[in-house]
Amino acid sequence: MKIFLSGLLMWFLYAGLAFAQNDPNRPWATWGDAGLGYWLIASLIMVSLFAFVAWSLWLRGKDPEEPSTTRYHALGSLVVVMTFFTLALYLIVATEAQSVPATDRAWDWQPGEMLQDPGGANIAGEPYRGYHVYLANGCTYCHTLYLRPEDVVTGWGEGAQEADVSQMGDFVNYPFGLLGTQRSGPDLTIIGKRIPDMTYQIEHLKDPGKFKPNTVMPNFDYLSDQDLADLAAYLVSLGNNPVDLKAGTLTQQPPDENASEAVQLGQSLYRGLGCVGCHTIDGNASLGPTWKDLWGKQETLDDGAVITVDEAYLIEAIVDPGASIVQGFPNVMQPYDLSDEELNGLVEYIKSLGGS
Ligand code: HEC
Ligand code: HEC
Repeated sequence: MKIFLSGLLMWFLYAGLAFAQNDPNRPWATWGDAGLGYWLIASLIMVSLFAFVAWSLWLRGKDPEEPSTTRYHALGSLVVVMTFFTLALYLIVATEAQSVPATDRAWDWQPGEMLQDPGGANIAGEPYRGYHVYLANGCTYCHTLYLRPEDVVTGWGEGAQEADVSQMGDFVNYPFGLLGTQRSGPDLTIIGKRIPDMTYQIEHLKDPGKFKPNTVMPNFDYLSDQDLADLAAYLVSLGNNPVDLKAGTLTQQPPDENASEAVQLGQSLYRGLGCVGCHTIDGNASLGPTWKDLWGKQETLDDGAVITVDEAYLIEAIVDPGASIVQGFPNVMQPYDLSDEELNGLVEYIKSLGGS
């Protein structure tokens, strides 16, 4: 009776869970999603459990003096039912997984396929091989490749939005899955969408402390140039539609031959100094404010003051970021000690990104 009751309880718990999940990114949002096969197997298990209990009760009533035979029977049938149950659980998952369609953004890189740096530098890497470098160097000890809905809220997704939350279809083309469980560092599901720049990725890998002074991420400067390029290509491939990436249409801003020398200098400093790690140029969220349309903007500071973004403000924000903190952002930017020419380049580059 106890077995029957706990079986029934677990069944309702499980079904209740499946029913309660109305997240569109997860399977079985409603009763109907579970599929006929699932219900058939589940009913079969319930019926067998029922029959088993009835049968052992009947055996017991028939021969109260001989409990040992009954126990052997009971144990035997329990093993059979459990085996069947486990098998059914596995089969359901295995068959459902095969029918999951790939999403548009699903990772899809074959051995030998090369990725040219969308950041514009003359570097290319092999994402497929990079995935193996990633696994071989224990990146999974600190990083996950699975963006949970809560990561959007807690910040482990670093600028991730609701639409970035991982779906089953994102993973179906991987040669093998290794999502990771430890989150000592941020989730990397959309790192390539956030920072599609191999120069930055390589520099950050070689010396993360150069960009994030308090990081616990080790230096990976012992990796060969090829390993670094492939790993960077893998990182850049994450979160981007492979078709766009292969077609080269992701290039945020192609090096503009017509742009002034100052703008070109600013653009290369943006990547080389790692501003790209915290500032986007396309309006997307990141750790710091986007530079798109920043020039001339009315910016609210954390003390409530409203200022207009001009040259003097920009330079101050770079050489002494602590002096005026933008409202809603943490005071984490390091001061940069740059020459007048470099500062001018950055200002001109920011100007070129739009604004009034
Ligand atoms: C000991 C833990 C640890 C290990 C191992 C580790 N990381 Fe990190 N990683 C971090 C932390 C913490 C951060 C956040 C601070 C930072 O950006 O350095 C981070 C950040 C990152 C970022 C984001 C950079 C950015 O600007 O947002 C990337 C990309 C990254 N790691 C890649 C890797 C790769 C690839 C490996 C394996 C070769 C690796 N990490 C190994 C802890 C780790
Ligand atoms: C570790 C992340 C980080 C890095 C790297 C970083 N910044 Fe920032 N930056 C921030 C944050 C956060 C803010 C907003 C808070 C503040 O005002 O200090 C900010 C603010 C700014 C602002 C003011 C933006 C506004 O909306 O008013 C400018 C300009 C700026 N950064 C330029 C740069 C430049 C240039 C670099 C590279 C040389 C750089 N930052 C590198 C995090 C970073």
